[in-house]
Amino acid sequence: MRKQIAAANWKMNLSLTQAEKLVTDLQNQNFSIAENQQVLLAVPFPYLIPVKQQINTSHVEVAAQNIASTTNGAFTGETSAEMLNGISINYAIIGHSERRLYYFESNETLAQKINRAFEFNIKPIFCCGEPLEIREANTQNDFVEIQLKESLFHLSEAQMKGFIIAYEPIWAIGTGKTASSDQAQEMHAHIRQVIAQKYGAEIANSVSILYGGSVKASNAADIFGKPDVDGGLVGGASLVATEFAAIISTLKK
Ligand code: 13P
Repeated sequence: MRKQIAAANWKMNLSLTQAEKLVTDLQNQNFSIAENQQVLLAVPFPYLIPVKQQINTSHVEVAAQNIASTTNGAFTGETSAEMLNGISINYAIIGHSERRLYYFESNETLAQKINRAFEFNIKPIFCCGEPLEIREANTQNDFVEIQLKESLFHLSEAQMKGFIIAYEPIWAIGTGKTASSDQAQEMHAHIRQVIAQKYGAEIANSVSILYGGSVKASNAADIFGKPDVDGGLVGGASLVATEFAAIISTLKK
């Protein structure tokens, strides 16, 4: 079975003390992580090393929330894939809608970031998803398909095998408005089909497709229970240890 993943996206939140307390509280929760499951904590850059040092199981890994599209050089304020690799970070979120919206990251820039990640053995968690006006016009399938094609379709079959995608409808992020589990399933099946058309069914079936957007302990089981939903990318609810632990417990085994 492809990997089932619960990924926390802390975004730009928490002090270091709060971050360490959250990890302690999370590790004190009673949840088990099966062989086919992975928990990721995407934390702010300054917390990557301390949080990594605090974690006591290989089923929980720390992830970056972004990486530079270039290799090392005169790019003030950026953090490269090489640097993350140097501190043993194995995952990075790439193309979150907040990066696309506030920092003007295009599909082409994201393709470069994905390449940098692969060059330095970092697994991307590639985000896609439509804004409200696209959903209202019912053109979300085409919109997401273009995001996938422009950022991912240069990848080799080996790179696409086991790739991680997060579908996050922008209208559901931080709004309390969740896509229904049927809406999530419909888009996830579409994403898998788009990948299958280019890479074949076997590779498409190996891709983990996470849902993101107001995931909570109360709705995770319903959404993650759908056949093409392989877990979630969780914002607000991941900042509460009991909530995130409960969400982890709803991953398929
Ligand atoms: P919320 O879970 O707070 O809606 O955020 C979703 C998200 O953007 C995760 O990357």
